[in-house]
Amino acid sequence: MPTIEGATETYLKLREKLQDVVPDFELRHKAQLAFEINLLKAERGAVILGHNYMEPALFHSVPDFTGDSLELSRKAANTHADPIVFCGVQFMAETAKILNPNKTVLIPSPNAGCSLAASITAEDVRQLRKQFPGVPVVTYINTYADVKAESDICCTSGNAAAVIESLHADTVIFLPDEYLAKNVAKETGKHIIFPVGDPLSVKRLSQELDCTLVGWRGKCEVHEKFSVEDIRRIREQFPDVVVLAHPECSPEVVEAADFSGSTSAMIRYVEKTHAPRYLLLTECSMGDNIAAENPEKEMLRLCSVRCPHMNQITLEDTLSSLRYDRYQVEVPEGIRVRARRALERMLEISGSSSSSNPRIASSY
Ligand code: 13P
Ligand code: SF4
Repeated sequence: MPTIEGATETYLKLREKLQDVVPDFELRHKAQLAFEINLLKAERGAVILGHNYMEPALFHSVPDFTGDSLELSRKAANTHADPIVFCGVQFMAETAKILNPNKTVLIPSPNAGCSLAASITAEDVRQLRKQFPGVPVVTYINTYADVKAESDICCTSGNAAAVIESLHADTVIFLPDEYLAKNVAKETGKHIIFPVGDPLSVKRLSQELDCTLVGWRGKCEVHEKFSVEDIRRIREQFPDVVVLAHPECSPEVVEAADFSGSTSAMIRYVEKTHAPRYLLLTECSMGDNIAAENPEKEMLRLCSVRCPHMNQITLEDTLSSLRYDRYQVEVPEGIRVRARRALERMLEISGSSSSSNPRIASSY
């Protein structure tokens, strides 16, 4: 069994990173929980995967691996540990289960959903396939297993353009994020239509069947809140600020930003550059996590914006999850097998690192 650091050691480590972000009494309480989790994790031979949006004390204490959706899918595909505890949202834990049917996959809260995943059903995808026969379907990883099962290949924010390009198809159905679709359409030189509720666009498509992305109007309830006006105001106050936007933000916001990429691409960008200050247009706990790792860099963030779903995952519930084997993620076998095919196709083509929008910067 690996050596586990004691409660005091855990507290001291957390304090070193988070003393400017988390009040001391809270840190002491959380360090004790983290110590108990790490002890139980080692006893049970478990692995904990933690998304970049986890709250700072959890993010810096219990995950064996942290990352964006693509990196965590790769970790889930390669782990030998059992059980897998997923500190992230339901679709991420489902992805781990799809790739590990014989292991116990746990999510600490049953209420960690996602507005994008909730925006589309498997039946919606079947209808689109009928409407556009023969057109390949790409679904964002932020979807539930039954929707993945109806698609040809998955993608994440870190590889969406590469996945589309790998298909060598003029027309591609890309679901369900409207803004990601618009951003990726720009990147891949395709124009975009939204057929549901807009029959005219389908007529146009039948006339010019080239280079089209067929989209859906799902939105991330966090990233849709950022506006160009937010960026303008911050630039007015801090002219030297570097603005980073997740590609789930609107195309106007991405265009007004200096860099756009997956959550891990944003982290790497801050690590590798030396701007006086950064503005992060994404879930605001991630700003705390980056600030803790880069104390010499100033992180501005618009902190009214916390994902209510990621926020469900707490250290208390992570401990209960390991103690009581809850909440177990299950995916019906017929759906799992088809969803796995779409995920594996993505993992095959997506190389070893997440990409970012080359309009603004590359290789992060
Ligand atoms: P990443 O894949 O970039 O981590 O994004 C996941 C997500 O849910 C963003 O809102
Ligand atoms: Fe879903 Fe948006 Fe939350 Fe990400 S930030 S999990 S896309 S609701």
